Amino acid sequence: MSNSKSIPFLDLIEPHKKLEEKFVSVFREALRTGKFIGGPVVEEFEKEFADYCGTAYCIGVGSGTDALRFALLAAGINKGDAVVTVANTFIATTEAITQCGATPVFVDIDERTYNLSPEILKEYFETKCETDHQTGRLVDLRTGKLVAAIIPVHLYGQMADMDSIMDLAEKYNLLVIEDACQAHGASYFSRRENEWKKAGSVGIASAFSFYPGKNLGAFGEGGAVTTNNEEIAKKIRMIRDHGQVTKYYHEIEGYNGRLDAIQAGILSVKLKHLDNWNSRRRANALFYNERLSAGGNVVTPYEPSWSKAVYHLYVVRVQDRDNLQKQLSGIDLSTGLHYPIPLHLQKAYAHFGYTHGDLPVTEKVTKEIISLPMFPDLTSEQQERISDAIANFIAERQTCSNNS
Ligand SMILES: Cc1ncc(COP(=O)(O)O)c(C=O)c1O
Repeated sequence: MSNSKSIPFLDLIEPHKKLEEKFVSVFREALRTGKFIGGPVVEEFEKEFADYCGTAYCIGVGSGTDALRFALLAAGINKGDAVVTVANTFIATTEAITQCGATPVFVDIDERTYNLSPEILKEYFETKCETDHQTGRLVDLRTGKLVAAIIPVHLYGQMADMDSIMDLAEKYNLLVIEDACQAHGASYFSRRENEWKKAGSVGIASAFSFYPGKNLGAFGEGGAVTTNNEEIAKKIRMIRDHGQVTKYYHEIEGYNGRLDAIQAGILSVKLKHLDNWNSRRRANALFYNERLSAGGNVVTPYEPSWSKAVYHLYVVRVQDRDNLQKQLSGIDLSTGLHYPIPLHLQKAYAHFGYTHGDLPVTEKVTKEIISLPMFPDLTSEQQERISDAIANFIAERQTCSNNS
């Protein structure tokens, strides 16, 4: 049972309190108009979110998983294709790939940012692929599949090194679909374009999740694809709505993957507060960094100079992580593991034939990462308690090892 001293992992109550009247009016509008799916409220949110991300189009869909799947389908990914991504992500990234009939190929991550490593990606293209002389396309040697796309995941709210990834994608003629499901409002300084770019505005299409716990969360399921490509936008509008442009005239077979009007209305209300919430998350991250990095026993998040992360999750690395998590849980401090088993070692993907040792960096960090409570209303008093509890754990551990 929680008590006044317990600290939740995230807080889905406090940020909504002040906005309650605005949320209620979204419901009233739906009741008055009877427009529950599609309609002007969805269109308005789509326009606002496209403007926010700096893209020409935004298409509201049923979830982040839908967003990824529809983006891949609209970009033409299908059976026979390989899509390169990371194993330190939520399984939705790869579910979207396999559900298009394609095969995920995992490459390792950067040990400091935990995102797709452009150096390892380059090495993968150079040593584990060959060019098909007839088509000029890259073939993954392990699977024999044509490499068609890369999905960089902007994990924990920090963008992957997109310039280097885009350079490689251009060199090998590959599509880039961003998994921005954890990165609403994160930005990246593009050295290629000499400007800051928002998550969701770099690849040919990008997927966002509005799952309630996300930095921009709905009151249920929701997602969106952002893109500057008109054809892809048009296709996704069809795919999300059973492949129809006009009711009951189906150009293709699609899905039921639309964004509800009530969720879109809620998201419009919340979008106006996203920058403020994100900057409070950033301030909290700074506070944690100062408290936790002192002893040198906790690896705090690394933010390159070209990145502005939005700390969907605040993830540190420690030795003996599982015991730390148990100890924190014993004093009602909630933490999470994102993620405890990398995808290439999941039972669901045993048939892909990966084994321990295939992705050494991913496997190493997976054993050490722990996500600490992170939300805009987290207080400095709460952060101090968490940091002190971690420091105590480390001190006890050191005493034990000195005595043994
Ligand atoms: C990295 C990543 N990709 C995809 C998704 C899928 O989003 P949804 O749960 O909205 O389908 C999530 C959501 O947790 C995610 O974190």
